[in-house]
Amino acid sequence: MENNRIRIFESVNDLAQFALEWLVAKIHEIPEEKTLTVALSGGATPKQLFEYLSFQGQKSVDWKRILFFWSDERCVLPESDDSNYRMAKNSFFDKLDIPEEHIFRIHGEADPIEEAERYSRILKDNVPLKHGLPRFDLIILGLGEDGHIASIFPGNTQLFQSEHFCEAVKHPSTGQQRITFSGPVINNAIDIVFLVTGSQKAEIVLKVLNAKNDKYPASLICPCYGRLTWLLDYDAGSGLL
Ligand code: 6PG
Repeated sequence: MENNRIRIFESVNDLAQFALEWLVAKIHEIPEEKTLTVALSGGATPKQLFEYLSFQGQKSVDWKRILFFWSDERCVLPESDDSNYRMAKNSFFDKLDIPEEHIFRIHGEADPIEEAERYSRILKDNVPLKHGLPRFDLIILGLGEDGHIASIFPGNTQLFQSEHFCEAVKHPSTGQQRITFSGPVINNAIDIVFLVTGSQKAEIVLKVLNAKNDKYPASLICPCYGRLTWLLDYDAGSGLL
């Protein structure tokens, strides 16, 4: 597979089926005794993918072979409607037989600075390191309409030079505290997949792909040693057709 690629799908279900088949293939690529390290994105977009995978992937994916992390989390209780963990739990984990010890929740209820340090230790202890950084097999990213990824927002691109694996940050408009992967951790992944759907994202997709500066954090996503894949539905990719 070439290093950077864009796939546009007629529907979100077609996109999810592709993602399912790709996940099955990735699991088959690794040795029997190895687990796949996957970091999930937050927001609303992954919900449809999670629901599809939890239904269609019941039998085809050996879910016990995957360790689940998050690339970012809101500093809220796990029961909060705002929690990325809660969305994944309700639409995905609760429907599949995934060992509790394979789910590495970011503790949104904890002190943000302490949690960024704790989660950095979790990554160090549970994700193989490469070039001194956790090297995920797969990091799934959403795309904000302002070009943010995880919780790296415009104006905060110094997080791509961070020496930490995780950082405590604030949402620029709501002030909501968040925990996020730093840029170097994201760019160290073997596979980075942007999951973008909906016509409201078509404009920012074009801007990010054509960006000539670091205005949009998403345009700084460039895997050092891995592959970047954009999975778009027709609406989000309409500007590219
Ligand atoms: C979060 C995210 C964030 C999200 C984008 C897209 O915690 O909100 O991880 O980066 O992926 O904002 O969000 P939507 O999928 O809701 O458009």
